[in-house]
Amino acid sequence: MSDVDIVPIKAEIAAHALISREKYDLMAAQAVAEPEAFWAKEAKRIDWIKAPTKIKNTSFHGDVSIKWFEDGTLNAAANCLDRHLAERGDQVAIIWEGDDPGMSTKVTYRELHEKVCRLANALTAQGVKKGDVVTVYLPMVVEAAVALLACARIGAVHSVVFGGFSPDSLANRIQDCNSVALITADEGRRGGRKVALKTNADEALKTCPSVKTVIVAQLTGGKVDMQHGRDVWYHEVTEAASPKHTPVEMNAEDPLFILYTSGSTGKPKGVLHTTGGYMVWASFTHQYVFDYHPGEIYWCTADVGWVTGHTYIVYGPLANGATTLMFEGVPNYPTTSRFWEVVDKHKVNIFYTAPTAIRSLMRDGEEPVKKTSRKSLRILGSVGEPINPEAWHWYDRVVGEHRCPIVDTWWQTETGGILISPLPGATALKPGSATLPLPGVRPVLVDGEGKELHGETEGNLCIADSWPGQMRTVYGDHARFVQTYFSTFKGLYFTGDGARRDADGYYWITGRVDDVINVSGHRMGTAEVESALVAHEAVAEAAVVGFPHDIKGQGIYAYVTLVADVEPTEALRKELITWVRKEIGPIAAPDVIQWAPGLPKTRSGKIMRRILRKIAANETDSLGDTSTLADPGVVTDLVSNRAG
Ligand code: WT7
Repeated sequence: MSDVDIVPIKAEIAAHALISREKYDLMAAQAVAEPEAFWAKEAKRIDWIKAPTKIKNTSFHGDVSIKWFEDGTLNAAANCLDRHLAERGDQVAIIWEGDDPGMSTKVTYRELHEKVCRLANALTAQGVKKGDVVTVYLPMVVEAAVALLACARIGAVHSVVFGGFSPDSLANRIQDCNSVALITADEGRRGGRKVALKTNADEALKTCPSVKTVIVAQLTGGKVDMQHGRDVWYHEVTEAASPKHTPVEMNAEDPLFILYTSGSTGKPKGVLHTTGGYMVWASFTHQYVFDYHPGEIYWCTADVGWVTGHTYIVYGPLANGATTLMFEGVPNYPTTSRFWEVVDKHKVNIFYTAPTAIRSLMRDGEEPVKKTSRKSLRILGSVGEPINPEAWHWYDRVVGEHRCPIVDTWWQTETGGILISPLPGATALKPGSATLPLPGVRPVLVDGEGKELHGETEGNLCIADSWPGQMRTVYGDHARFVQTYFSTFKGLYFTGDGARRDADGYYWITGRVDDVINVSGHRMGTAEVESALVAHEAVAEAAVVGFPHDIKGQGIYAYVTLVADVEPTEALRKELITWVRKEIGPIAAPDVIQWAPGLPKTRSGKIMRRILRKIAANETDSLGDTSTLADPGVVTDLVSNRAG
């Protein structure tokens, strides 16, 4: 092997692992050579009402059409619940750990099935039908998993909006897909504080006439306004509903969910996933990447508001009959030992988190980790952004005590599930590398002109052929789907990421190559933050870029030009930060605002972000060619007045 820093496969893991290196090589070869046969066999991990006979029908050319298992029928919720009842009805499906360390509950498969059936019946009673869209705006509570599965059960399409998003962001996401119902809660709890979900929802719904029903879970008992004829209590409608429900038969290509995600331009896109292929991918990847063995306790710390929560808290683990832990809180409340205390309390075997969490815990040193046992841990996972080798080694040494392989999983909202990752018993690790593609995934690196680069190289990361979990379209805008993902490089799915491939064929993701930034593992379109800023009356123009941030990976750096006669003051700076928090949500709040009397533009008026990124990163001695600027003097001013 070429790189010095290689962590070999652990013998004790390999001895019991589902996939060895030999098996991986065989699977990878077969999946590419005979995708139909390979996926026909893997599809059997799902219970079909009518088994598919047509396996793959996909094209990345022209209008782009992606269909998997297209004549099969199934129900996603039945796959997560009903089919497990005979064998493991009394096994715990969900362990819920509250924000308050004194609060936790366990829900068995039988109990979860009943909860889902009741909500499915309640939704139907409220007039929600197959094909309708239901928006879910909930914190990390069992009701969130129940809401997803109840929608799936009746064939309604769920659209989860992260509880940290503002009323405006919620409203935009409801309007785009015309949801007929909203499932929310009185208040959420996070890090000892309360989040006013229902109040936010009421604000959003002022501009959302499509929503006819609001189902409100009572979590804190905080006082909320209930609008007569529109709002009902979750506990009342589910108690009144029958605990029996027959799942609706869905076609493999019927939509399962929409999830909004930021791109480089315009409003967030509604990423659409369908039923059959997504479920096969969720189950396949969850089982093999985490080497999941029956009876193990599995914990993914993501929020159900992101795709990681969909695939690796709800659908993947439950499809596999796993015990999945849902955590309402945050890593540092009440103390920075919390993650490891939860691991010990529930004997967690597989732990999956984000590099930003690791980095923030590293600041507090080893003591808060070392005072816990963590003996139960077997596998560690990372997701959301590149994990820097320093954080990788800390995770490996301090948390895993060199016992646990780290699976650094690369994927995207669009991919439905993991595409590039080590497999615990098959892949020697290199800290900082997501390593090798899963069977059936064909990464290619291309140069700026779309020419494929071979061997050891670096370029734009594309995928050459479809995999079952791939998104099918942008909800309501197929042209945007084709434009965003398939027009940059002909015949290829373009991920928006750059990557390097080393001599062993390992992939090293270098980060986004478009105007998307990754803040604490959350994806943010710079255009969204800019339009929030210019919506403020004092702002004439704004340009937003990412810059290296110790904890968050990337921070948000905003250059703001004020309208004439407005003075740049400290108070205004704070006001603009608060403004963006309110417009989009706390995750979008700029870390730095620099007053910019002018922005560097080409003569055709295009902002040269390359220069702004350099200034933000404090790399002002390598600004590159500025001769094409309309007014090079602008740059001199920005450099000398650099903020932060
Ligand atoms: C972007 C996708 C995948 C679910 C959570 C984020 C970055 C994700 C890794 C990783 C390096 C990663 C990429 C990707 N990313 N995982 N293991 N190593 N980068 O989903 O919000 O759709 O963001 O996150 O840049 O494109 P998302």
